[in-house]
Amino acid sequence: MAYAARAMDIRERPRRLRRTEAMRRLVRETHLTPSNLVLPVFVREGATAPVPISSMPGVVQHTPDSLRAAVAEAAELGVGGVMIFGVPAQRDANGDAACAADSILADAVRWTKATTGDALPVIADLCLDEFTTHGHCGVLAPDGSVDNDATLDVYERMALTLADAGADVLGLSGMMDGQVGAVRDALDGAGHVDVTLLAYAAKYASAFYGPFREAVESQLTGDRKTYQQDPANAIEALREVRLDVAEGADLVMVKPALPYLDIVGRVADEVDVPVAAYVVSGEYAMIEAAAAAGMIERERAILEVLTSVRRAGAQIIATYWASKVARLLRTSGA
Ligand code: PBG
Repeated sequence: MAYAARAMDIRERPRRLRRTEAMRRLVRETHLTPSNLVLPVFVREGATAPVPISSMPGVVQHTPDSLRAAVAEAAELGVGGVMIFGVPAQRDANGDAACAADSILADAVRWTKATTGDALPVIADLCLDEFTTHGHCGVLAPDGSVDNDATLDVYERMALTLADAGADVLGLSGMMDGQVGAVRDALDGAGHVDVTLLAYAAKYASAFYGPFREAVESQLTGDRKTYQQDPANAIEALREVRLDVAEGADLVMVKPALPYLDIVGRVADEVDVPVAAYVVSGEYAMIEAAAAAGMIERERAILEVLTSVRRAGAQIIATYWASKVARLLRTSGA
């Protein structure tokens, strides 16, 4: 076909909008900004030097000083928030240490608030798995099952401890039924009406949590399939989200992110609260390992992954790359 004839035949040419970087930027639908990113950090009770986590290259268990430095840096880079996990020196069957006013997590919240004040929202993880000798997210019934309602009593006490320590947000990651309502009532009853609840509304029983369990020195044997969701289910995720919003969740999260982008999208369509997604430890480790082996370009892969999570509908992304990416975005001016 003659050139002119072909040109008339193809009137729509999407490539026109891709011709230059400036044109691509003009029509870009999804933007990643530091304020979308939340940095998860681990703080180890009694640590005198940062402890590297071998399955998560570049991530450490912090000391009080290295925590202060990390959160100050995150705030300076405009990161959207920090999410704190404590690694306690002592564990017991009921996770009582989680409710002590001087728990490692409550202390870490205080150290962070004293460093960054209101510049960086502080999310404290509200779950027992780091504090129990058996590693489950709740307390056990005599038959060894995780006792939902008895766990809620402990969550309520832990919530008050963390709110008293100054946490801006509590991350309810235990997947107990009724946890959002129970914690909201406990907080409101104590006058903590402004403490915000981030519900891990759709949290799947995932193989991608492996490195995290090293990071918190989890004592878990077995799995969490009786309380975390079956990876095969999507409708059930919408039910979990609906319940959490009805119970008072201010923010809802889907976790992990990449294998569940369809869920992120469906949840975002469904709710009128901001949606978060957690790019978990195994997703981090996978890309870091492939990049270290020279198989993929690290920075491009990270940006592509995080952009995909935003595109799917998450406004907020919890990622161990938060500060790194904030720095990258600043230098690239993207
Ligand atoms: C449990 C909890 C988990 C993560 C955060 N909180 C996982 C689990 O062991 O079930 C995983 C985060 C990650 O893998 O990065 N409270």
